[in-house]
Amino acid sequence: MFKRLEMAPPDPILGLAEAFDNDPNPAKINLSIGVYKDAHGKTPILQTVKAAEEFILRHEATKSYLGIDGMPEYAAATRALIFGAGHPIVADRLAVTAHAPGGTGALRVAADLIRNVRGDAAVWVSQPTWPNHPSVFRAAGLRVNSYPYFDPATNSLAFAEMRAALEKIPAGDVVVLHGCCHNPTGIDPTPAQWAAIADVVAARELLPLFDFAYQGFGEGLREDAGGILGLWRPGGEMLIASSFSKNFGLYNERVGALTLVAGTAAAAQAALSHIKICIRANYSNPPAHGAKIITTILGSPELRAEWEEELTGMRGRIWEMRRRFVTGLAAQGVTRDFSFIARQHGMFSFTGLTKDQVRRLRDAYSIYIVDSGRINVAGLTETNLPVLCKAIAEVL
Ligand code: LMR
Repeated sequence: MFKRLEMAPPDPILGLAEAFDNDPNPAKINLSIGVYKDAHGKTPILQTVKAAEEFILRHEATKSYLGIDGMPEYAAATRALIFGAGHPIVADRLAVTAHAPGGTGALRVAADLIRNVRGDAAVWVSQPTWPNHPSVFRAAGLRVNSYPYFDPATNSLAFAEMRAALEKIPAGDVVVLHGCCHNPTGIDPTPAQWAAIADVVAARELLPLFDFAYQGFGEGLREDAGGILGLWRPGGEMLIASSFSKNFGLYNERVGALTLVAGTAAAAQAALSHIKICIRANYSNPPAHGAKIITTILGSPELRAEWEEELTGMRGRIWEMRRRFVTGLAAQGVTRDFSFIARQHGMFSFTGLTKDQVRRLRDAYSIYIVDSGRINVAGLTETNLPVLCKAIAEVL
């Protein structure tokens, strides 16, 4: 079975973490994988997470299996976070939620569901997108196509091209949209552009599948859900893959969720029964710990308020690093206009550095960023920022 196998290519993001670990240079800097770091370059456990874990340790009474779709309280908390507690989707029970192992797990469940119920549908991803998107959908047996998203000439959204491409997608196909903090470009549609996207999606009868991994890292918890809410029309359908890796700092707990919005409450329940079939054949039922942490935090008014403060702190630090990145490059004598970095959203900055420049940053300076030129701005600190800016000035 295995004797003729050659080495598979490394993952474009996680593979870099391995290369970084093996780099002996003590001055190495890892700005590849999307992990938040504080001002000291550490990825701390949130205080609210620690408090919730202490509560769980004292009160948890069993480690018995959860249901296939996880804990109902967690599902309800996830929906309230996405839509807002009073939204008609919640009040009319038009959405169902299954707890999944991370945002990637949620995407895979969504992909399996689409394959099972509408196997001929193609999935359309933005160009560029998170490199794992096509892999996840293809692994489920789906066809993957792309629509234009990024205009390198202006470092902005190629909106006219995007809309024209969406208008040609066949009815019933799936469009993957990044709810906020587009990965890798950091460029999100404006409210007016979201409204235009909503019109096309409705007119073409496309199924929106939102990857929602950065809620709270862009403008704020509610603001970041604006694109999703704007796309919903009464009777409309959508899928949302949430991740809590970033906004709760729960990366290795693998905690996410798939939320499905249907036209009626009965249709949502029927769809949930199909989601459960996909989950049972994959990981059977979800791991509990991360979901218990989130349910504990969101269920306590004090912890929730404290968590929102922690989230605001992370968001503020990222914005500050963006501003300093722009001024730091100028201070190194870089004349190219990098002001767009301060306008992008979320963890990542799509710098426009070429593959060759990225390689030189890695080989000559042990600075690791993704081949596409994507830098994890949330990994910048006052210490590594000047080093990065100087190295970029030199490779430019
Ligand atoms: C990233 O894009 O760096 C993150 O979403 C982490 C991952 O799994 O790739």
